[in-house]
Amino acid sequence: MSADCDLEFSLAEDQDFQQVSPPEITVLKLCTSDDYNGLDYMSAFYHRWLQEPGRVVFIARMKNRVVGLESALLVDDGQSVVFQGRRVAPDLRGSGIAGALQRHVSDYVRRHHPEACIARLSRGDQPSPQTLAKYRLVAKEAILSLCCEAADLGPFIGELQSRLQQTTSQSPVILNQQQAETLILSNHVVSTLLPGKTIINDWEPLKPVQANLEVLRRRGLIYIADRESEPSALSLCTPPYAVPFRDDALRININIFGGHLAAVCGVFLAQLRALLPSVRGYLVCNIYVDPDVWSGLHQFCQNKSSVSFLKDYWEEVILETDL
Ligand SMILES: CC(C)(COP(=O)(O)OP(=O)(O)OC[C@H]1O[C@@H](n2cnc3c(N)ncnc32)[C@H](O)[C@@H]1OP(=O)(O)O)[C@@H](O)C(=O)NCCC(=O)NCCS
Repeated sequence: MSADCDLEFSLAEDQDFQQVSPPEITVLKLCTSDDYNGLDYMSAFYHRWLQEPGRVVFIARMKNRVVGLESALLVDDGQSVVFQGRRVAPDLRGSGIAGALQRHVSDYVRRHHPEACIARLSRGDQPSPQTLAKYRLVAKEAILSLCCEAADLGPFIGELQSRLQQTTSQSPVILNQQQAETLILSNHVVSTLLPGKTIINDWEPLKPVQANLEVLRRRGLIYIADRESEPSALSLCTPPYAVPFRDDALRININIFGGHLAAVCGVFLAQLRALLPSVRGYLVCNIYVDPDVWSGLHQFCQNKSSVSFLKDYWEEVILETDL
């Protein structure tokens, strides 16, 4: 079936998120509890996205029902857009709505921002060879997904700390904003640590250029490196946000750049230590790393402290195409 002719597109509004009646026309209903493994970020991000400078959020409607959503964020000093949040009502998937919405948002960006010539997106599934042929592969990160009660985090940190002491004596450094911004644009970090010379924060791929520092500042990240100068590992951690996985579930994202396993383990542990005082409830943590260090980090995280692996090895791919 072709959905194109029955669809209407509009910029999303606050009330599209959760209308009282009828409940099935809301953005909230576009994903099931299985989508994103229960870790959908939309409840936490939707209203923030509507206010974000340089972002448009589009809704597709069919017979007055909200059936799809897609967002585009202008980045790289207006030269590129990042597509995010693509979703279609479960009963209408596979009918061309995602493609029609994508074309509408791309046309809108071309009309309103003619200087933007590249579109980037990230995917957590394995795109087909036909899909991959339409894009350039920019970068790949492997993901380690852990979950636990917040009360188990302290013992886990203690266990990993004693393991780490056997391999390294260096203490990682929490960077202030200025140190972090200088470091993330430095030649050393860009050419030796960033995957595909791309800063990736929680699935958001950005070029390492001055203008993107403003985007990163909005995210409220904690930056930790194994050392302040010429680090072997640099990590960014998002503030925890609520996800539908469980009533009290918080999702945490730690992106770690660098292929030196001991340094990666060190900054990971330091990020957990920084989180420990503020987290409550149930925690689900995605750690995004160089695929070459995933199995070493997985091994490092084996524990007796009731911290579980949510799923086995999986990947995030960053794709790019001309707009
Ligand atoms: C991803 C999703 C929107 C696809 O909807 P659909 O109606 O089944 O889409 P179709 O099968 O008609 O494919 C249309 C387009 O969506 C793309 N698509 C499929 N899966 C995708 C995914 N996980 N992420 C991004 N795009 C995806 C397809 O590649 C295709 O694009 P192309 O024409 O450029 O190749 C839908 O399955 C969904 O809502 N899933 C839950 C949310 C989700 O996982 N979103 C993706 C991450 S942002």
